[in-house]
Amino acid sequence: MEKLSVWAARQPNTIGKQATLQGWIRTRRDSKGGFSFLELNDGSCLANIQIVADAKLSNYDSEVKHLTAGCSVTVRGEVKPSGGKEQATELHASEVIVHGLADPEAYPLQKKRHTLEKLREWAHLRPRTNTMGAVMRVRNRICRSIHDFFQEEGFLYVHTPIITASDCEGAGEMFRVTTIDLANPPKTADGKVDYAQDFFGKPAYLTVSGQLEGEIYATALGKIYTFGPTFRAENSNTSRHLAEFWMIEPEAAFFDLDDDMALAERFLKRIVRDVLADCQEDMAFFQERIDSTIMAALETVRDRDFLRLSYTEAVEILENSGEKFEFPVKWGSDLQAEHERYLTEKKFNAPVILHDYPRGIKAFYMRLNDDGKTVRAMDVLVPRVGEIIGGSQREERLNVLIERMKEQHLNPDDYWWYLDLRRFGTAPHAGFGLGLERMVQFVTGMANIRDVIPFPRTPGSAEF
Ligand code: 4AD
Ligand code: MG
Repeated sequence: MEKLSVWAARQPNTIGKQATLQGWIRTRRDSKGGFSFLELNDGSCLANIQIVADAKLSNYDSEVKHLTAGCSVTVRGEVKPSGGKEQATELHASEVIVHGLADPEAYPLQKKRHTLEKLREWAHLRPRTNTMGAVMRVRNRICRSIHDFFQEEGFLYVHTPIITASDCEGAGEMFRVTTIDLANPPKTADGKVDYAQDFFGKPAYLTVSGQLEGEIYATALGKIYTFGPTFRAENSNTSRHLAEFWMIEPEAAFFDLDDDMALAERFLKRIVRDVLADCQEDMAFFQERIDSTIMAALETVRDRDFLRLSYTEAVEILENSGEKFEFPVKWGSDLQAEHERYLTEKKFNAPVILHDYPRGIKAFYMRLNDDGKTVRAMDVLVPRVGEIIGGSQREERLNVLIERMKEQHLNPDDYWWYLDLRRFGTAPHAGFGLGLERMVQFVTGMANIRDVIPFPRTPGSAEF
């Protein structure tokens, strides 16, 4: 007898097969005719399969009639055409093995719908809900698409370190990693704990980005990408920020900013195309339950060219918009979420790539333009989520890079290896970072970033 997933058993070509299905009961309904309908889910798809369990089953009275939401079972039987409109098939059980009951008085996931906030308290049970199941299947599809895209484009997957001494963004938002015995710590000359000895005598942090190490490999192997967890010790409680998130960072030698923007656009289109093609059932769920504009937004991303605007042009548009923003727009300051929303939602209703930002608001490694005022940076903004990608062409000129570091109060000696890349065969190169969770948010329409990652790490939440 073949083991089938619920998804497989729902396909009409299985009719007539003897099959074994395994999963968790969603509901049980007893009919007067001496049998019960069980709705079974195993996570392989959103939908359940209907199991028809006859009273003649040896454990019908003792076990089957006691099944409730959350119980786990193995069911054997024949796949038959279903009379119902919602499904092509159902399983007529010849055997039901009960593995684990779930006390209905205690099991929280009863028929009543819970808020997403409430479900966050049950990080261990929420994957059993329709919403989290759909999020996780789409997240998985996106990850596969990411690897497919870069592999097909000839990028090499490089694993950059999680523990590192370099602050890529220079923003001081790093978590310290320490081996110091706080009962007996090493001390500096003035008697304070010497945190520079954190990692067996050297400083160490959790990485905020794999970019700098990625540049090492790009300037040797050409085109690379990283895909791993990154950490930001910023105490921000928003619907778009996590302390631990996953980032995809391609880096390519002999790429300029135009190549970089074109790569980002192809990349996002590819992910959206794959999800729309392969996650139809889950996407229909998001469209119906979460956000009715989601499909139209994704089709726009898939089909239309992204708009490209310089930061300076964007500031002009915002200044002339007639909108009353909470934060006034001023050339030289960072754009706020409200400005990004105006551009992507009100003005253009499409993704926008902004480029050539003021040097003062961007990281030290971005290439300085000839105007001396702006750097070759880009941000990709999308409706609802705002910034989804940040990237740049990198400064490949040794002297300019050292100047930029000093300007941002970084010590060039700490980056000696990074500067070596400019000393020995320097080459133009560029890259960007996509926040995976922001992408999942954009694709699914989920409003809060905590609901698109299995175990969200935000200030004050690290229980599971
Ligand atoms: O703009 P960011 O900080 O850029 C970098 O880290 C560069 N080193 C990337 C590169 O050029 N290789 O972050 C890149 C993206 C953002 O656009 C956003 O999507 C996501 O990472 N991101 C976050 N996602 C969730 N929570 C946070 N706290 C995030 N911070 C950034
Ligand atoms: Mg950014």
